[in-house]
Amino acid sequence: MPECHSTNDLAAQIVRQPSTNEGTVVITDKQTMGRGQRGNYWRTEPGKNLTFSVVLKPAFVEPKNQFLLTMVISLAVHDLIQSGLNCAAFIKWPNDIMIERKKVCGILIENQLKGNEITHSIAGIGLNVNQKHFEFPSATSLAQVLNKQFYLPSLVDDLLENIEARYLMLRSGKFTELKAAYVSVLYWKGEPHTFSIQGLTLKGIISGVDAAGKLLIDFGERERAFDIKEVEYLE
Ligand code: BTN
Repeated sequence: MPECHSTNDLAAQIVRQPSTNEGTVVITDKQTMGRGQRGNYWRTEPGKNLTFSVVLKPAFVEPKNQFLLTMVISLAVHDLIQSGLNCAAFIKWPNDIMIERKKVCGILIENQLKGNEITHSIAGIGLNVNQKHFEFPSATSLAQVLNKQFYLPSLVDDLLENIEARYLMLRSGKFTELKAAYVSVLYWKGEPHTFSIQGLTLKGIISGVDAAGKLLIDFGERERAFDIKEVEYLE
């Protein structure tokens, strides 16, 4: 689409038609009402970045394992940057992609459940590519870090190939391998850092994620698991 409000919203509309195939991609140069996590907006300069959504139909994934989809999509973006572009990147739990301690990519995965089945999943990706100036100092782009401009159509092709490869791993039941790959590139893992937890500032060390995808932080005396709303990264 030359322009649309949100590729996630448009994909959710399209997927209601039974003829919509798994793998359908909605992509735009200009997203006018991009949505982020926790009800935030996702704003980027038109024509300079990747903003797209992929329709998946992961009926083979049990809802209790839905975090596997987060691993698949974030690993695919991580693969693109780390292996494809040879640039060190990390996954900030649950699914922000970080380069040089700044966010280069946000992911919004919206799963539709029916009974005990994920009927479809819309995986929305906002990857900052050629944009050089950002509203927030905590944001960056591939161009800012690697000092070159990218041709968006080939970058999206590469990223879609990575998504397919990681998704096929999921489909063939390689859960342990996916989790190991995800945990191995977790941002701040194994380093002492400060977190805000229920109004308290606590020092701890990220050790991984549990089976439900909760973040595990080791506070010395014990390890605790956190949901997205329960923990904030400080420094
Ligand atoms: C985040 O808050 O980090 C998630 C941002 C996700 C943005 C992408 S851009 C393409 C897709 N369409 C949306 O409305 N949001 C996602």
